Amino acid sequence: MKETILTGIRPTGNLHFGHLFGACNNWLKLQEKDYEFYLEIADVQALTDHFHEPEMVRRNVYELTTDILSIGIDPNKVHIFIQSTIPEIAELTVFYSNLVTMARLYRNPTVKTEIAQKKAIFGNDGESVTYGFVGYPVSQAADITSFKGSLIPVGEDQLPLIEQTREIVRKFNSIYGNILVEPKHFISKTARIKGLDGNEKMGKSLGNAIYLKDDEETITKKIMGAVTDPNKIKKDDKANPDICMVYYYHKLIENKNIETVCKECKNGERGCVACKKELINNMLEFLKPIHEKRQYYLEHQDEVKKVLEKGNSVAQKKAKETMAEIKKSMQINY
Ligand code: TRP
Repeated sequence: MKETILTGIRPTGNLHFGHLFGACNNWLKLQEKDYEFYLEIADVQALTDHFHEPEMVRRNVYELTTDILSIGIDPNKVHIFIQSTIPEIAELTVFYSNLVTMARLYRNPTVKTEIAQKKAIFGNDGESVTYGFVGYPVSQAADITSFKGSLIPVGEDQLPLIEQTREIVRKFNSIYGNILVEPKHFISKTARIKGLDGNEKMGKSLGNAIYLKDDEETITKKIMGAVTDPNKIKKDDKANPDICMVYYYHKLIENKNIETVCKECKNGERGCVACKKELINNMLEFLKPIHEKRQYYLEHQDEVKKVLEKGNSVAQKKAKETMAEIKKSMQINY
């Protein structure tokens, strides 16, 4: 039987380079293989920590889908759907909540880290941590199992959630019979993309990201502010390209003259401003096909909505089938 890929992304912002060279890179490869591929726009999960910003989440459902289509995800190969249109996921989350202890949830490393981050930001003793937030691994297990997802492409930080899903599946199957599929994870081999500030991670909250939708003015401003070798003050100072983010991005988007860039930088024959201008031009060239597609979809939002409607309907059908089996096995098929 065909393997089923299920993955998700929270609609809280646009796609940036970290996504493009990480998760999206994987999706683009996997869509060419013979899988049943579901890509969930996880709006309910986004609401776990953005419940007070419903407009933001709704706007980003469309923004993100537009971005996803712009990078070449093919809706004929991938079912792109919105989590909240699948009521079975919410229903299943309730059923699974009996199979998970509070202690186990609090021990989940991903949840633990995220709670620590929240405390660092809000500086309280955890009173802002909601039931929904602590329980989101259960909801994510429902995301995966509603479609009998067997292969789950995720970043490393999500591994504890997949492990928890496997535990829930084993527990469920041991009580109610062999209904659910134990999922395997699929980790991206691509390295983490560094931010323009040299931070190991590119992220929205870090303010160091290049977004796929960034226009010429934004790209220029960001690259002009990128971190270079701090010891290079004058144009003809020799520098170390290995600690320069401009050089890092030249490499990342495969500048054909990369050896010249490296040599000139090391020999003090290349000023940072000229080097940044070269990167800006290459970056705009690199983004051109994405920008063109994005522009098309921005002007045809009706098509974006149709893609989602089609994805929702395929996903709804599958989730209904799974739920029928589950209810039967749990003897709640009234
Ligand atoms: N939690 C994932 C993230 O923040 C997104 C996600 C939601 C997901 N549902 C999923 C990932 C199901 C894999 C499978 O990146």
